[in-house]
Amino acid sequence: MQERELIELTGKQTQLIIELGEFAEILYWGNQVYGDIASCRSTIYRPVPYGRLDCDVPVTVSPELGRGVFSSPGLEGHRDGQDWAPVFTLKNVVQKSPKGQMFKDESLKGQTSLAENALKGQASQEGALKGQTLYLESEDALAGLRLSTEIHIDEYDIVKIRHQLTNIKSGTYQVNRFANTLPLPMRAKELMTFYGRWVKEFQTERQPLLQGGYQQENRRGRTSHEHYPALIAGSQHFDELHGDVWGFHFAWSGNHRLRVDVKADGRRYMQAEVIYLPGEMTLEEGESLTTPWLYASYSDRGLNGMSQQFHAHVRHSICSPDLIANSRPVHLNTWEGIYFNHKPEYIISMATQAAKLGVERFIIDDGWFRGRNDDTAALGDWFLDESKYPNGLEPIIKHVNQLGMEFGLWFEPEMINKNSELYRTHPDWLLAVDGYEQPTGRNQYAIDLQNSDAFNYLYERLCYFLSQYNIAYIKWDMNREIVQPGHQGRASGVRQTERFYALVDLLRSQFPHVSIESCASGGGRIDYEVLKRTNRFWPSDNNDALERQRIQRGMSYFFPPEVMGSHIGAAHCHSTRRRHSIEFRGLTALFGHMGIELDPVKEDVAEKERFAHYVALHQSLRPLLHTGINWRIPTDDDAHQAQAVVAADQSEAVVLIVQLAMPTHALSGSLRIPGLDQQAIYQISILDKPSFYENIVHTQPQWTFSGSKVSGSWCREVGITLPVLDPETAILIKLERVN
Ligand code: GLA
Repeated sequence: MQERELIELTGKQTQLIIELGEFAEILYWGNQVYGDIASCRSTIYRPVPYGRLDCDVPVTVSPELGRGVFSSPGLEGHRDGQDWAPVFTLKNVVQKSPKGQMFKDESLKGQTSLAENALKGQASQEGALKGQTLYLESEDALAGLRLSTEIHIDEYDIVKIRHQLTNIKSGTYQVNRFANTLPLPMRAKELMTFYGRWVKEFQTERQPLLQGGYQQENRRGRTSHEHYPALIAGSQHFDELHGDVWGFHFAWSGNHRLRVDVKADGRRYMQAEVIYLPGEMTLEEGESLTTPWLYASYSDRGLNGMSQQFHAHVRHSICSPDLIANSRPVHLNTWEGIYFNHKPEYIISMATQAAKLGVERFIIDDGWFRGRNDDTAALGDWFLDESKYPNGLEPIIKHVNQLGMEFGLWFEPEMINKNSELYRTHPDWLLAVDGYEQPTGRNQYAIDLQNSDAFNYLYERLCYFLSQYNIAYIKWDMNREIVQPGHQGRASGVRQTERFYALVDLLRSQFPHVSIESCASGGGRIDYEVLKRTNRFWPSDNNDALERQRIQRGMSYFFPPEVMGSHIGAAHCHSTRRRHSIEFRGLTALFGHMGIELDPVKEDVAEKERFAHYVALHQSLRPLLHTGINWRIPTDDDAHQAQAVVAADQSEAVVLIVQLAMPTHALSGSLRIPGLDQQAIYQISILDKPSFYENIVHTQPQWTFSGSKVSGSWCREVGITLPVLDPETAILIKLERVN
């Protein structure tokens, strides 16, 4: 296939133009263009300057050193020092769209090829195949390697790409690096990246994209709090509403590297890859290795446009359809209420109180299994602690169910304490390298999930509890970083992550209607690959409403609110020792998958009435909050943070205005609200406000008392005057279309 041709992959508004010939190169990724692209071809070919190689150097779908790329290649590896600079030639192409399948290469018709299998696999994995998929098969016969590439664009304009490498020659092929690559245009001049730590996840940072580019590495063995596997590139000064942005999310829960290369000639591209530990990834003849998916979203409407596309994709293609219907009941989780102090009668009284507050699912967190009295012992011993629960869990579950609530239970399956029966019986089940004493994390170690006895033991224990008891939900925790992931002496970080997926998948196939929350000391394992097999996250162990405002905002770039567990904690926050009013805590937890994380027995009547109020408010707004379109609303003062959820049909919206810190000025100006029907008239009303509201100023804005009717375009262009608010308070507004 030496002839070059251009093909298009088209989503709703986004288009990829890919040149196919000896190799495949993505030449354009942006808004859809019209006209006959073949006749425009000559306008995108590059000049060949002096002082460089004498030919044009393509950045192919997997950039190749052998074609003259001097920046990061897509694949690095060797066969005992040979075959280290592969150059792939395109052999087969299949394009598939909802209208039917199109074979670019007639020889492929009727074959059961890798392409076909991949497409079938994908269709079964993600329901009916929507959007367009391009499948490319390239080979380097000399190096004995085949490279298969899948590029997909869906109706929400999400592009996803992955590769598969197959060793087609005798001799072991050692893979050192194998990346997914997507191009960026030269106007991508700035980045927004993510950083964080335990109790401070999803922090964002802006930086220019300069010569030399950008690189982030995560070697913590889980998605990590520190290096969330996503980044955003954009045109200069891109913001929430303006500018071109390209968002990337690498769906992988282990070690990763993200980079944006700025080539010396000005071209730039993004790469995402799994970090392979030394010697970890080898392919024998006939064996294949597939990369995780890299998800990407382009928008010319700033960060909101990008996020709205990701949210739609997450809702329709990542979240499991089994778990969407009524999968967001309000939780009460016992952790911050009782920690390890479990007494069945007391837990029963907590459940009674929880039901009175409107709670719909009651969860017993850590501390219920044999010997688990603190965090130094018992992980691995997944047997009910009969000294704490002499009558078993049944009386509690029965009581919870009789009160109309579902029951949930906490597990941390991948982990083991040395002080446990499991370790005393199976010291060889540790994920470790013999002869080394690795540091502990939260006093614990990881279990080697490649050890099939260990894997089967965990599966059997989980199955036991899920079949023995009426359990609707499990909180799946993972509370340490992985230092030396050794299996039989060899590095095994990738396989450990894959075996974690396999364990969850196996369990889900057996118990498809059990909801699973992914938690890893809060937000240490939050990514799309986990979300395919779970249905909510615990974003942070920090339940301080002020910190949560920032954490939830950072998470909102790639995730809709309903997958964020957001709980009302005690007035006196356990992780920061700050105190917040129930109004601020209630409104901060309102938009997500709501819950309560405290001991309701100990709360006074007045406070409990307020919990019930926020639970009921959440329940009344839940259909809107969990299906509507999310907007992060720009504010003129960084002391404010505002967000809106607008119904898909624009008939209603809620807006949350948060006063993070002392207002900078005496007057806070106005809030311009996007996303409404520009022609429609909306009635504005206040749904909730701080208890000290009227008496902190002479007069608050008139509309906050009398309501007002305004058009969608008024909201967007003129805006509404902001009231004066105390720091760490919030106000909730509703807009309802009246015409
Ligand atoms: C982790 C979780 C918490 C809680 C504890 C229990 O820290 O993030 O929510 O479940 O473990 O030990």
